Amino acid sequence: MIRVLGIETSCDETAASVVALDGGGAPKILSDIVLSQIEEHAAFGGVVPEIAARAHVEALDGIIVAALADSGVDLADIDAIAATAGPGLVGGLIVGLMTAKAIAAAANKPLIAINHLEGHALTARLTDGLDFPYLLLLVSGGHTQIVAVRGVGDYQRWATTIDDALGEAFDKTAKMLGLPYPGGPNVEKAAATGDAARFAFPRPMKGSAQPDFSFSGLKTAVRQAATAIAPLSDQDVADICASFQAAVADALDDRVSRALNRFRQEFPSELKPALVVAGGVAANRTIKTTLEALCEKAGFAFVAPPLKLCTDNAAMIAWAGIERLRAGISGENSADFVPRSRWPLDSISAPMVGSGRRGAKA
Ligand code: KG4
Ligand code: ZN
Repeated sequence: MIRVLGIETSCDETAASVVALDGGGAPKILSDIVLSQIEEHAAFGGVVPEIAARAHVEALDGIIVAALADSGVDLADIDAIAATAGPGLVGGLIVGLMTAKAIAAAANKPLIAINHLEGHALTARLTDGLDFPYLLLLVSGGHTQIVAVRGVGDYQRWATTIDDALGEAFDKTAKMLGLPYPGGPNVEKAAATGDAARFAFPRPMKGSAQPDFSFSGLKTAVRQAATAIAPLSDQDVADICASFQAAVADALDDRVSRALNRFRQEFPSELKPALVVAGGVAANRTIKTTLEALCEKAGFAFVAPPLKLCTDNAAMIAWAGIERLRAGISGENSADFVPRSRWPLDSISAPMVGSGRRGAKA
């Protein structure tokens, strides 16, 4: 039996969870508490890092106490503390990692510093018991990546965004159209009554041999269309949202199908490989349906973990800790580990084309 306390504070969710692995190798989420800061940031139309860091400071202690109480496990019986140490907003990372270090030191437990992206990458093994290798599409407010997940600590980034993350594009589109934050669900809702054929928005990167994503050109096209017909009626907003969503789905279809082909070539012995989707944008029905159809056509299993576990949470961090313990990879197991606002999952991948000196934004 392994039991790990996980802590997540890299963006605007304060989260703690206890996950156990029993002797037979079956995982169980004993508690999973996520406090969203959406209300604190809504007035600003996006996450404000300073506000996020302060909110984590205020909430984290109570959330950890509640996660331990809910799990019915004493801190003394926890095997390790796993905390997100990057990538993310550095203020929040400091709060989470320092708290984890303090608990680990006081309770004399090992500390495992976890890469947030590894948490997303391994979730499908917690929820669906997936075997390696598989392909991950991570589409959230901060990340847009395709990753070949080959083993614990063995990830290859095949594509990333050269500018905005997909969730960011949804949020910015919503803001331009006067829809509330967070933008994704509101864009989807408005799109339901819109005409997706009214605006011919660009399909970024479609047909390009470079495997990556790009969304800032699409965002600009949306702004230009909106400005050209302002003031916008509700129907105009709905039509822009529907046309934007159609462009996104089409672009994803093209990008992901390239990755599925590459997966087939690199792992020819996998008869029914899986594509896992994670991140808040995976909640979008149009996107989900598009990817499901693509997988069906390509002979891939489509795996979408429950939304609660594929948006930011601490169960995935605790689980990544268990995976590392089980694999005997101490990883970043050190009280000296310093939070990293940028921390690529795949350290071998070349820096992004078009990214600045410090790397791509998302
Ligand atoms: O994974 P997540 O909860 O948090 C991080 O970004 O880490 O993802 C949030 C993102 C936001 O940008 C939000 O607008 C987007 O996911 N999102 C959606 C939908 N629901 C959430 N985007 C499109 N359609 C949705 N239904
Ligand atoms: Zn995330």
